[in-house]
Amino acid sequence: MNTTELKQAIIQAKKETDTLVLAHTYQAPEIIDIADITGDSFALSKAAAKMTDKKRVLLCGVRFMADTVKILSPEKEVVLSHKSATCPMAEQIAPERVRAFREENPDVCVCAYINTSTELKAECDVCVTSSTAVKIVSSLPSQKVLFIPDQNLGGYVAKFVPEKEIILWDGCCPTHHSVSVKDVLDAKAKHPGAKIAVHPECRKEVVDLCDFIGSTSEIIDFCKNCEEDVLIATERGVCDKLSRDYPERGFYQLAPNKLVCPNMKMTTLENVYKALLGEFGDVIEIEEELRLKAKRSIDNMLKYGG
Ligand code: 13P
Ligand code: SF4
Repeated sequence: MNTTELKQAIIQAKKETDTLVLAHTYQAPEIIDIADITGDSFALSKAAAKMTDKKRVLLCGVRFMADTVKILSPEKEVVLSHKSATCPMAEQIAPERVRAFREENPDVCVCAYINTSTELKAECDVCVTSSTAVKIVSSLPSQKVLFIPDQNLGGYVAKFVPEKEIILWDGCCPTHHSVSVKDVLDAKAKHPGAKIAVHPECRKEVVDLCDFIGSTSEIIDFCKNCEEDVLIATERGVCDKLSRDYPERGFYQLAPNKLVCPNMKMTTLENVYKALLGEFGDVIEIEEELRLKAKRSIDNMLKYGG
């Protein structure tokens, strides 16, 4: 089948199997084309929480996103588009390390970025996404907060919530963390009039050189409303989306050879078609006690994050 035939076959298979397809913005453009709902982590979590009457959900993204859908909609069959698509950051901190920390620090609220395994979420008090982190951390009742795993996002939050003591550990996103000050300076030299929009998963010294800092959805909003060209320092899916939606505008990928998440790009149209037919992907199973513990953190995120 060629691409057009494959896309048509996917649309037909979605109907026949009563499947809703969710895709993170970092997915390849052809996956975005066949998805029913696309967005950043928070938008996908909210969509999962308000899930429609479909009996099956296919998540095109990485494992923690499919797990989040299953945690919030256990009655549905939830399928991850590619079995090996995981976010490396989600596995960087062992749940036992958090358990030990909590025993010694009972007054500290443990806040997990949503890019974490279900086992890690189960040890935490609340989750955040990059678009809700500052709002949620500032409304937590506790004065001391352990923020895991992303040291860069945690440092960014700490700057905006100076009234709290934020403890950081050593996790990071290998894709965003790889961007250097030199990458920013080189890109600026090539596009001198352009503004720079950056995701807070990038290093502090990189973020400090940029004009706008925000999550996937916030960067998209900034770019739509900006009058100048924009250099985009986040995964290339965001620049691809903006360039397709606004072909007349000047949107450029900063560090194009670095800002591609290999896990997010594993999913192909062929995978999606086979996953719809039940021949590919991974059906998510979560043991009930673990699910309920992890759900508390996500429920708190939806409560505090709005
Ligand atoms: P968003 O919360 O902006 O969707 O980010 C998800 C992610 O994986 C960032 O690298
Ligand atoms: Fe994980 Fe980074 Fe990929 Fe996002 S871009 S899924 S944080 S590895």
